[in-house]
Amino acid sequence: MLKGNVLAVTSGKGGVGKSSLSVNLALALQKLGKSVAIIDLDIYGFSVPKILNIDAKPKTFNGKIIPVEAQGIKVMSMGFLVKDNEPIVWRGPMLGKMIQHFTEDVLWGEMDYFILDMPPGTGDVALDMHLMIPQSKEIVVTTPHKAASFVAERAGSMAIKSKHEVIGVVENMSYFKPEDSDQKYYIFGKGGGEELASQLGTELLGQLPIQEADENSETPAIAAETTSLFKEYLNLAEKIDVKFQL
Ligand SMILES: Nc1ncnc2c1ncn2[C@@H]1O[C@H](COP(=O)(O)OP(=O)(O)O)[C@@H](O)[C@H]1O
Ligand SMILES: [Mg+2]
Repeated sequence: MLKGNVLAVTSGKGGVGKSSLSVNLALALQKLGKSVAIIDLDIYGFSVPKILNIDAKPKTFNGKIIPVEAQGIKVMSMGFLVKDNEPIVWRGPMLGKMIQHFTEDVLWGEMDYFILDMPPGTGDVALDMHLMIPQSKEIVVTTPHKAASFVAERAGSMAIKSKHEVIGVVENMSYFKPEDSDQKYYIFGKGGGEELASQLGTELLGQLPIQEADENSETPAIAAETTSLFKEYLNLAEKIDVKFQL
């Protein structure tokens, strides 16, 4: 049993920014003084270790796993357990075991927040998560394109059916705004986030800009504190924190 608030970051689609959001939101919540852990439940497509540039492997203590800590965030990921990025070929029941393993066999301690970085879609991992972590609340991520929100909706509907509270929608890659201008360019269209939020009967919590990656950084997918993307992550963290106090 995880001791703390649990927030699952979901979407019907891959590549919409779930993992980026999980990590950046964790860092933003930490800025607000919260202790945060990330459980990377994207067993096949783990990316949290890469985003946080973690090389270390977790140590064990009395048969339990000590989570790896990076930038003050505790992390557990399949990426720590496989050698040299070898592909993982498992069936459903083994995936379920992994969720249990990551929640029960890791010495998390008490945290303010556990963020679950979910795989895309509504497959075995999502089903098992809904059963094993019933207290989890969810945010659904989409891109602004209307068709994207249509696919993301399935993840949200599943959460609602399994009685998980969807606390809101985050629209990612909403627009591009050059740092030296106020002009916003809606590269991927408009309206997907609003539409999804109304379909799910929830609110649009944030619209995140497209941020050019700083390829010289060791963590290009982490928003630098000078960027408008970082400010949006902070706003989002504040809103989410309020939702959990209610
Ligand atoms: N707001 C953004 N601006 C620019 N690139 C982004 C943004 N959000 C995500 N990305 C990039 O999009 C790709 C997919 O993001 P990722 O977080 O891995 O998505 P998912 O976990 O949903 O598959 C990554 O290369 C990531 O760096
Ligand atoms: Mg991901």
